Amino acid sequence: MSAAEAGTGGAVKVLVANGPNLGRLGAREPEVYGRSSLAELAAKCGAWAAALGLAADVRQTDSEAELVGWLHQAADEAWPVVLNPAAFTHYSYALRDAVAQVPLVIEVHLSNPAAREDFRRQSVIAPVVRGTIAGFGLDSYHLALAELARLAAASA
Ligand code: DQA
Repeated sequence: MSAAEAGTGGAVKVLVANGPNLGRLGAREPEVYGRSSLAELAAKCGAWAAALGLAADVRQTDSEAELVGWLHQAADEAWPVVLNPAAFTHYSYALRDAVAQVPLVIEVHLSNPAAREDFRRQSVIAPVVRGTIAGFGLDSYHLALAELARLAAASA
């Protein structure tokens, strides 16, 4: 059993980390981010992960320091990560340096930042992740979890 399977009954633990303002999902610009709340996102990720043989630990913070700390934890515990860095995507070199320490991170976005304002077109996180899934609403997370499950099975 790998470190990522400890305490999950054999399922690979996945950290699903969400950055600033994502606690406002449902209320925040629903025409851009949809009408589902963070609690609904967490419940769906939990169910999708379980169906894929994963155990999702869904978290959200508005704090860059806390998010960096969670990435350190993922690096130490060998947890794969689904990360929505939210606005930190576009400027946080501290988060980028933390992400670079984690072997398997998939960056996700609800919206498609490349199709929005100029400042959203750059991700300082993208160069240090395995890949990015953007523009599919909550399904961006489902696609990322499915890919993590495929990668975990391929490396088992
Ligand atoms: C976001 C896109 C970011 O540009 C924005 O700052 C967010 C959410 C998304 O999921 O579409 O907060 O990461």
